[in-house]
This record gives sequence, structure tokens and C-alpha cells, in this order.
Amino acid sequence: VRVEFLDYEAIDDYGWSLDDDDLFRKASHADLDESAHGRLLVQPDESLLEAAENRGFTWPFSCRGGACANCAVFLVEGELSQPTDHIMPEELAERGFRLSCNGYPLSDELKVVFNVKQLAELDDLIL
Ligand code: FES
Repeated sequence: VRVEFLDYEAIDDYGWSLDDDDLFRKASHADLDESAHGRLLVQPDESLLEAAENRGFTWPFSCRGGACANCAVFLVEGELSQPTDHIMPEELAERGFRLSCNGYPLSDELKVVFNVKQLAELDDLIL
């Protein structure tokens, strides 16, 4: 599964928004560090967070068990599984927020924004 990722910090720095249609196109033109914007492959037995770590990236996490939301990502494209036992409220899940520590890709391609834990909506969930 091919994943294109973008660090929320870049969005914040450049004054972009999660809702921008051309977010990843803008990121491509912004000459970001390869840890902030790039691509990685997820193997079938890897969660999204594990895949990022196994390719040498450092994404935020804490509990690794669906209970803290530090690992939250925002899905721009594709689908990531969401186990039943987790902290993400339904309304945020519906908007596309997922946990990367126990989320497994359900589509062949994904576009995700990681490091979204600093968003006000998620702030309350962070333990
Ligand atoms: Fe705590 Fe993913 S690391 S929910």
C-alpha cells in the first residue's frame, strides 16, 4: 500500500488548511524536508505508525493501543481501519480522523496528514 504523507506542522507553518483541495500539490511545490512530506510503503502486517517507524520516520505516539490519540492522522484520500476499541469520537472519525497506531490501510493508496494531535478538536483527547 502506497502512502503519501504530510506533516501537519507544514500546513500550520504555511497557513494551509486540512480542507484545501490541492494540499498535497502545494506540499510538492514547497520544498519540504523528506520527513515532512513524502511517500512510504505499508506492508500487510504493519499498522500505519509501524510502517512509518520501520522506514525511519518519527511520528508522534504514546500508548500504541488506541487510548491516547497522540498518533492521530487525517485521511485526505483512501481508508484506514479503525478498531472498535478506541478513543476517537464518532464525529471526528466521520471527518476522516484515524489512529495510526492500530490503523491498517484498507485501500491501495492513502494520503494522510500526520501529527494532527495539536488541532484543537483533538486536544481534549490527548492523554
Ligand atoms: Fe495512543 Fe495511538 S498511540 S492511540
